[in-house]
Amino acid sequence: AQTPSFYDQVGGEPTFRKLVDEFYTGVATDPVLRPLYPEEDLGPANERFRLFLIQYWGGPNTYSATRGHPRLRMRHAPFRVGPAERDAWLHQMRRALDTLALPPEQEAELWNYFTRAAYFMVNTLDDE
Ligand code: HEM
Repeated sequence: AQTPSFYDQVGGEPTFRKLVDEFYTGVATDPVLRPLYPEEDLGPANERFRLFLIQYWGGPNTYSATRGHPRLRMRHAPFRVGPAERDAWLHQMRRALDTLALPPEQEAELWNYFTRAAYFMVNTLDDE
């Protein structure tokens, strides 16, 4: 038998669905983040992010089957991601992650990844 993927270990699809739903519930009323999202309906953005995370952690590759190579820095280039946006994003992710109540080691693995990924996505250092 194969070692289960991290995706399976944390509970598979329902875990990532809950994480991303909680994250977007926060985004919906976040004064820094909400204006960045081009669509009024956050549903499609929710789905793209969920499918990306599922693929990244070893679940089905539906993200790339529908969206192609992630190229996340390139896909964020149209949006202003400065330190304030990064910190707001991480704040909403921290809240969302807390709702999962995962074992500390799994939680730390996810948080570590999100922190690094959010710093990497910054594309301007202007404060305004
Ligand atoms: C897309 C903002 C960090 C993953 C987007 C979009 C915005 C955005 C406005 C477009 C929404 C849409 O898909 O319609 C931000 C901001 C960040 C951030 C302000 C702050 C640092 C991250 C990080 C990840 C991520 C750290 C991954 C761990 C994605 C994905 C998409 C996306 C997968 C959809 C890409 C696609 O297929 O088009 N983000 N993001 N984002 N973001 Fe972020």
